[in-house]
Amino acid sequence: MELENIIRKQENGIATLTINRPKVLNALNKKTILELSQALDSIQNDNNTKVVIITGSGSKAFVAGADISEFASFDTTQGAALAREGQALLFDKIANFSKPVIAAVNGYALGGGLELAMASHIRIVADNAIMGLPEVSLGVIPGYGGTQRLAQLVGKGKAMELIITAGKMDANTALQYGLANHVVAQEELLVFTEKIAGKIMRNSPQAVAVAIQAINANYNHAVNGFEEEIALFGSCFGTSDFKEGTSAFLEKRKPKF
Ligand code: CAA
Repeated sequence: MELENIIRKQENGIATLTINRPKVLNALNKKTILELSQALDSIQNDNNTKVVIITGSGSKAFVAGADISEFASFDTTQGAALAREGQALLFDKIANFSKPVIAAVNGYALGGGLELAMASHIRIVADNAIMGLPEVSLGVIPGYGGTQRLAQLVGKGKAMELIITAGKMDANTALQYGLANHVVAQEELLVFTEKIAGKIMRNSPQAVAVAIQAINANYNHAVNGFEEEIALFGSCFGTSDFKEGTSAFLEKRKPKF
């Protein structure tokens, strides 16, 4: 597939997807969402990729939101379709992806940009980042999962305040709130993010995938998370990684996953 709006780099088990629309601060239009979605589908089937990093091009923005010029003339039906399709194509796909997805937030992460970071499993944030869900200032609300995921990450009270004031926060506030996993200097961002990816890659990919599924079960009202954990824990005992991991421990050697 010819990629117009994202750059895909593949190195040492890590696929880095860089959103590349710097003239509009990497705003997410339909084509960018589709390209990210298709890139994830191909990564899913690529045994050489263990971790995905999503970042933005340039030093000013991760993603400044959904592309406002694309939806400004939409009616109610088109608005609902925008949110539904975006969630299914990209945001839910990332949240439930079986390989860890890390957002390397290199500047503005607003609206759909913060929603993209929040759908990711881990957020590493550069010290120049500004994060927020300013949609109500445009007469709309977050539509790519933001009202749900912000409350899950920072709690209902803080999410309520941030969303209805259209507030923006700096990197250290995001860290304090638990929205950022780590804050690092902008020039260190990718190196640090790759270090975290490296720590993940030492572990069993099969167990990592199941851990993501089990943690997500807490946020799925249709299932009982503890029951899900029991079933998923049991399923690990049937994997080749479990045999290798436990044998390696008993044989006092490093596992080869
Ligand atoms: N959509 C489309 N274009 C955008 C954009 C967006 N979300 N954000 C920035 N741009 C464009 C600007 O229009 C501008 O284009 P021109 O050069 O052609 O004028 C260019 O990017 C540079 O932006 P600014 O000149 O505004 O840069 P700045 O440094 O003065 O301000 C900013 C930076 C504070 C991030 C500002 O651009 C801004 O407020 N952007 C919009 C943020 C926002 O409201 N995001 C939420 C979008 S709605 C959404 O995401 C809905 C959803 O949940 C599904």
